[in-house]
Amino acid sequence: MRMLLFAGKGGVGKTSVAAATGVVTARSGRRTVIMSLDPAHSLSDAFDLDRSLMDTQSGRIVPVAENLWIQELDVHEEISKHWGEVHKYISLLLNTSGIDEILAEELAILPGMEEIAALLYVNQYVREKSFDVILLDCAPTAESVRFISLPKTLEWYMRKVFRLERQLIRAMRPLARKWAEIPLPEDDYFVAIERLFEKLKGVDALLMDPDITSVRLVTNLEKMVLRETQRAFMYFSLHQLSVDGVVINRVFSEGARDDFLLDWQRSQKEYLKLAEEFFHPLPIVQAPFYRAEILGYERLLELGMELYGEGDPTRSFSSRRPIEFLHENGSHMVRVHLPFVQKTEVELTKVGEELIFKVGGVKRSLVLPRTYVPLHPRRARLEGDHLVITFGGDNERQHDERPLA
Ligand SMILES: Nc1ncnc2c1ncn2[C@@H]1O[C@H](COP(=O)(O)OP(=O)(O)OP(=O)(O)O)[C@@H](O)[C@H]1O
Ligand SMILES: [Mg+2]
Repeated sequence: MRMLLFAGKGGVGKTSVAAATGVVTARSGRRTVIMSLDPAHSLSDAFDLDRSLMDTQSGRIVPVAENLWIQELDVHEEISKHWGEVHKYISLLLNTSGIDEILAEELAILPGMEEIAALLYVNQYVREKSFDVILLDCAPTAESVRFISLPKTLEWYMRKVFRLERQLIRAMRPLARKWAEIPLPEDDYFVAIERLFEKLKGVDALLMDPDITSVRLVTNLEKMVLRETQRAFMYFSLHQLSVDGVVINRVFSEGARDDFLLDWQRSQKEYLKLAEEFFHPLPIVQAPFYRAEILGYERLLELGMELYGEGDPTRSFSSRRPIEFLHENGSHMVRVHLPFVQKTEVELTKVGEELIFKVGGVKRSLVLPRTYVPLHPRRARLEGDHLVITFGGDNERQHDERPLA
């Protein structure tokens, strides 16, 4: 079983690329489901399906071709299925605090519920071996990153907060009934959360296993888009997911005659260099800017062939983790996979949250997680195919610079 996540900034072509990938894997005989995690679904539009038909199928798996299904999650339906007690309590709470009942119902949809529902399905499909390939069409970058951190956050909550909160509420209930205007959750609320947590168990291991899950970053050759993709690369790496490839979509083909297109081509050429600097050593595949939007099976197949040719889209482009953020023996480190680089001097520069290094004629740039921002790169060494950069704080620098007694 393979799971691919397609992530990137809004509008870059995630849904089209995910759908095109599904068309290719299904044609090769593998049972494939494409799941949309974006509340603003457009997967059915990519397949040019009838909206009114989709509305009757809301949230379900819908067949679109042989071996190919799509699923657009419906947050309201998922809530009544999995979150009934939790949702009931939170809307009651909001309603008691003076918020109109209808609005309270709406507000009680906590951020992340839809993503949790998706993870529940992923776990179920893997357990039941329902599909050979699961493709996740993620919401625009910021949201999709929150989604991958959910299992860890939930586990932390269950370990550190949940039991305590439950005990506290139990103890407070008799008192609160007398005085408090705010209702306290009944024990059903806690039972529901516990049940959900059980169903989610193991999903983070699936996400973090590079033989099962890979992230493909979808991007365009524009500065702001590339910057956000670079940031997403860091976040996914930070959460120990394996990013194994980049799809650059909407590339203007060579040979344009009019000035407008020539200008675009020129700027895309420059940004392609920047993309290589940002994403090395990830393989980059390109898709052209088509004359018309990509609608329907045949057009998606065309895009799929452009991206993969006769190749297998699920084959891991590279099974290693290209960037790892480590905290070992009290030091923060970054480990970058840099194949084919000879042992030479490494030049390091850090500007704010960006780390730039030059080694063996290669210049690379990466965005650092927040905890690294106040630190300074201290040392860099090549270990086989990896460049390992060790960071230290200001205190450490003072310590280093103190003359030896
Ligand atoms: N290479 C391309 N050439 C021409 N049109 C394209 C190309 N890629 C995508 N499109 C069109 O651009 C629009 C947006 O693409 P798509 O929905 O795949 O992006 P998205 O990243 O999923 O957007 P969102 O963030 O809103 O979910 C669609 O109408 C799609 O058909
Ligand atoms: Mg989309």
